[in-house]
Amino acid sequence: MSEKRPIIALDFPSFEELKTFLARFPKGEQLYVKIGMELYYAEGPEIVRYVKSLGHSVFLDLKLHDIPNTVKSAMKVLAKLGVDMTNVHAAGGVEMMRAAREGLGQGPQLIAVTQLTSTSEEQMHTDQNIQGSLTASVVHYARKAQEAGLDGVVCSAQEAELIKSATADSFACLTPGIRPKGAAVGDQKRVMTPSQAKAAGSDYIVVGRPITQAANPLDAYRAIYEEWNR
Ligand code: C5P
Repeated sequence: MSEKRPIIALDFPSFEELKTFLARFPKGEQLYVKIGMELYYAEGPEIVRYVKSLGHSVFLDLKLHDIPNTVKSAMKVLAKLGVDMTNVHAAGGVEMMRAAREGLGQGPQLIAVTQLTSTSEEQMHTDQNIQGSLTASVVHYARKAQEAGLDGVVCSAQEAELIKSATADSFACLTPGIRPKGAAVGDQKRVMTPSQAKAAGSDYIVVGRPITQAANPLDAYRAIYEEWNR
């Protein structure tokens, strides 16, 4: 299997900070980065064009959730921007996810958010009136995402094994909450190392602060890359 790049979460508040960070990597080193709502809403599509112009791959983490027609139109725009991966909320339904796929086309990866990891089982019961276990809901949404033709889901590494067993082998698990041994956990509750995530069946890992806040981001990235591909 070819080498896999950890996806670096570029959670910076501004274009300038992102540029400074990317400049610390050697020219020609093609990264896979995640751009989220904060930066995208602050700087707009230009941020994606810029990062793509440097040769990097982009996962645009905007978690779309609207009526199918609106999501389809928005996805067409994101496809034109050249994103390599983007996402929707599975709660939008199979029809919405199918529309998203149609709008985005078959090239870029399209994944779903199931239950946000900030949602507790109790909140799911009271806020969403979804009874049963949180895990059952996560697996249900993963199956629906697969049925709609999506490529995978965002999930915790703890959920990856279960999702893998409930879906096709090719259905991907993308997992944040990754910390190399000894790294600061920060606000993440349950973390796994890159090699633990690999053993749990993760196909993509998303790593933010252990790289972006490191004294030497390049060294931190290389160490995580090496452990993820070992
Ligand atoms: O800095 P850190 O490695 O914790 O960053 C993880 C990234 O993954 C952040 O952009 C965060 O918003 C995102 N994320 C997460 N947990 C989820 C979904 C997304 O940490 N369940």
